[in-house]
Amino acid sequence: MIKFFSKWLRKFHRWIAVPTALAIPLAFVIKLVGNPQIVEAWGKLERIPSILMLIMAISGAYLFLLPYIIKGQRRRKATSSQPASDQPQRGTVANR
Ligand code: HEM
Repeated sequence: MIKFFSKWLRKFHRWIAVPTALAIPLAFVIKLVGNPQIVEAWGKLERIPSILMLIMAISGAYLFLLPYIIKGQRRRKATSSQPASDQPQRGTVANR
């Protein structure tokens, strides 16, 4: 489940990076040029770059934490599947 989700989220982060990388410099250029008609039209879309940046920050934070989440999961699996030392292991001579 985590594997599927992380793969999907990495793709999501990668593809949302494209409009983010376009929208942020575009917003700067529009403000710098200052053409009143364009600025007015842009007014309604002004929140898009910050929303995209927020999405990137959230998905990026998850991608950053992912190796630690997987490490913790592996450690938990390893400790829960370790056989008790006083019992014979399955498939050993003592078990036949
Ligand atoms: C606060 C914001 C962000 C955080 C915390 C963040 C964090 C991360 C992390 C942890 C990775 C995975 C690195 C790895 O393990 O290989 C990643 C990958 C990436 N990030 Fe971000 N990121 C942020 C914003 C952005 C932005 C703004 C862009 C571009 C506009 C971007 C583009 C990418 C790309 C293209 C990858 C590689 C994805 C892939 O192909 O696997 N990120 N980011």
